[in-house]
Amino acid sequence: MRFSKFPIFVALIFSVSTPAFVYGVDERYDKCTPFDCGNVTISYPFWGNDQPEYCGHPGFKIDCDDQHKENSTVLIDIMSFKYKVMGLDLPSKVLKLARTDFLDSICPNRYVNTTLNDSLFIYTSNDEIATLLYNCEPSQSHSENEFQCPSREAYFTTLEIQGNGSEEGRCNVSVVVPVLMNAVKRFVAYALSVSQIINEGFEVSWIIDQDKCSECVKSGGRCGYNSTTEEFSCFCPDQAYSEACPSPLEPESPANEPTIAIVKGMFASS
Ligand SMILES: *[C@@H]1O[C@H](CO)[C@@H](O)[C@H](O)[C@H]1NC(C)=O
Ligand SMILES: *[C@@H]1O[C@H](CO)[C@@H](O)[C@H](O)[C@H]1NC(C)=O
Ligand SMILES: *[C@@H]1O[C@H](CO)[C@@H](O)[C@H](O)[C@H]1NC(C)=O
Ligand SMILES: *[C@@H]1O[C@H](CO)[C@@H](O)[C@H](O)[C@H]1NC(C)=O
Ligand SMILES: *[C@@H]1O[C@H](CO)[C@@H](O)[C@H](O)[C@H]1NC(C)=O
Ligand SMILES: *[C@@H]1O[C@H](CO)[C@@H](O)[C@H](O)[C@H]1NC(C)=O
Ligand SMILES: *[C@@H]1O[C@H](CO)[C@@H](O)[C@H](O)[C@H]1NC(C)=O
Repeated sequence: MRFSKFPIFVALIFSVSTPAFVYGVDERYDKCTPFDCGNVTISYPFWGNDQPEYCGHPGFKIDCDDQHKENSTVLIDIMSFKYKVMGLDLPSKVLKLARTDFLDSICPNRYVNTTLNDSLFIYTSNDEIATLLYNCEPSQSHSENEFQCPSREAYFTTLEIQGNGSEEGRCNVSVVVPVLMNAVKRFVAYALSVSQIINEGFEVSWIIDQDKCSECVKSGGRCGYNSTTEEFSCFCPDQAYSEACPSPLEPESPANEPTIAIVKGMFASS
């Protein structure tokens, strides 16, 4: 008896609580649902994987290797170079990135300077710029900032860390890498290796507007970007609006709001 009643009960709840617009929901609203990649929640201006381009800003396409794995990797392309996304904080607009070429080895096959697209990102005040010097002529004395590569000697330098100052002239390759000041402090205290400093990554802040998106999400919409008109778009269940969904709409369930989803993502690892 219990079993036969159950489906009727479910069907009743469904027909009573499901708003009519669900049947004709705007495809853009549907497709731009934020998603999790590992412990990082991807939402506007970020977009990627199965989502259409209009779900985010063109410079913020991410690549998630496997959405369903706890340890999946999030990658972002900046100036044609891939960075691993180690953290994403939507309210403060800060992204923590690490260069992918140094993840396996501190001695890369190809030497590339870190360059940001400065119309999209800026470094935060927690960063400092370091220089890795490669292909150095061997020297008798060894300094703390020296490390070995299969080919030749190499050095890690910052404004304060300069070895004995003669490296510059002995090395023919230099690579600019932003690092966290805090990691450099720990290197000086012998708590981190050069490779560990680099792989702790660095922070960038994105400079495109996030306020419009907050308003859109508050009104029950999902943010997007129209690359034809180059304008922000708020996708609501019925259609797209330029700013926010018109008021009387069913309130969104809190679990769908990015700010809440991020908090969930941050604690998922601990
Ligand atoms: C993710 O974790 C699984 C199991 O813990 C492991 O087998 C797999 O190699 C890991 N993948 C990556 C990309 O680290
Ligand atoms: C990186 O930038 C520095 C300073 O701008 C330059 O001297 C160096 O040649 C560049 N290195 C590479 C690998 O492009
Ligand atoms: C930098 O970002 C802007 C804005 O998205 C884009 O128009 C420009 O092409 C980017 N520059 C490079 C060199 O990728
Ligand atoms: C720095 O190292 C070079 C190469 O080993 C050496 O010739 C030079 O004397 C050193 N300079 C100082 C100030 O120690
Ligand atoms: C640096 O020196 C090495 C060894 O002398 C040489 O093979 C390499 O081509 C040089 N690279 C540059 C960028 O000058
Ligand atoms: C972008 O704007 C144009 C012109 O208003 C419109 O035709 C198009 O459907 C919009 N695209 C998206 C993805 O909203
Ligand atoms: C995600 O997990 C990694 C490794 O477990 C951790 O280093 C990182 O801080 C976490 N990111 C966020 C946003 O919580």
